[in-house]
Amino acid sequence: MKKIAVLTSGGDAPGMNAAIRAVVRVGIDKGLQVMGVRRGFSGLINGEIFEMDRHTVSDIIQRGGTILRTARCEEFKTEEGRKKAANVLKVFGIDGLVVIGGDGSFTGARLLSKLGVSTVGLPGTIDNDLSYTDYTIGFDTALNTVLDAINKLRDTSTSHERVSIVEVMGRHCGDIALYAGVAGGAESIIVPERDFNVDELCKTILSGRLKGKMHNLILLAEGVGGAEELAKHVEEMTGIETRATILGHIQRGGSPTAFDRVLASRMGAKAVDVLLEGKSSRVIGSKDGKIVDEDIDEALSIPRSFDEELYQIAISLS
Ligand code: F6P
Repeated sequence: MKKIAVLTSGGDAPGMNAAIRAVVRVGIDKGLQVMGVRRGFSGLINGEIFEMDRHTVSDIIQRGGTILRTARCEEFKTEEGRKKAANVLKVFGIDGLVVIGGDGSFTGARLLSKLGVSTVGLPGTIDNDLSYTDYTIGFDTALNTVLDAINKLRDTSTSHERVSIVEVMGRHCGDIALYAGVAGGAESIIVPERDFNVDELCKTILSGRLKGKMHNLILLAEGVGGAEELAKHVEEMTGIETRATILGHIQRGGSPTAFDRVLASRMGAKAVDVLLEGKSSRVIGSKDGKIVDEDIDEALSIPRSFDEELYQIAISLS
């Protein structure tokens, strides 16, 4: 292993830059030549590849987004597209590829490795939806962004004695809603992993009012969706003014938290080590506080788990 490349793919996540920086600097430290690929798999197919040095990644650890840019690439989903990508890597003399992204990007990395390319995946997504790892890079920062928004919404909903429904990202995973809901003291948390009954929700809101609670904060995961409709329904059923806020892409930006920067640095370093050990088709994760690597097929086949314990705590606390 002499020359490796790194790319970011799929939705960006805060901390991706810290991960790129770690791959580049640790790679160079260990005697490797490190190349950057612009625009994910799409840039790989088009040969958008350049050499990175220690200086290329200066002053980026604190920046959100990804300096390599990112893309969701349709062509790479075809066998022909992947063959083109594998060929480009061969032409550039690249022996190993680090893919920073979510499950879609990992599926791409897995298929590329079947064509003989050594690949390692780093979990970069705000969704925290990869079961093999306790945390993904970007999740903690997104949580803190949501928390900041909740704190602000709490001020205004208390002043107006309203119900506030906050829709957060996460695709089919309710972790952002659950963790931000607990941290922000939400009265109700609605996630795709658990059934939800609108009548029960309205009963909870009304009984809260009878006990003197003058505002309500409801965290709704986008996998359940429909914040505006839910707000209308709650207002009609309870007679209490209700507003919906869809936080959207604001959750994907911002300077990464210390947690995400350290996680990304440790995972980036591990990715280089794994390639140097001659392994391929691996993904890096964090399990019980330790950075680990796992076979990509096994990692992707682990069914999604939901933190029932935290969910029950959230119910008790509300
Ligand atoms: O996977 C990250 C994520 O932000 C999801 O939470 C969300 O559903 C999706 O990406 C949005 O994708 P896009 O940026 O393409 O609109």
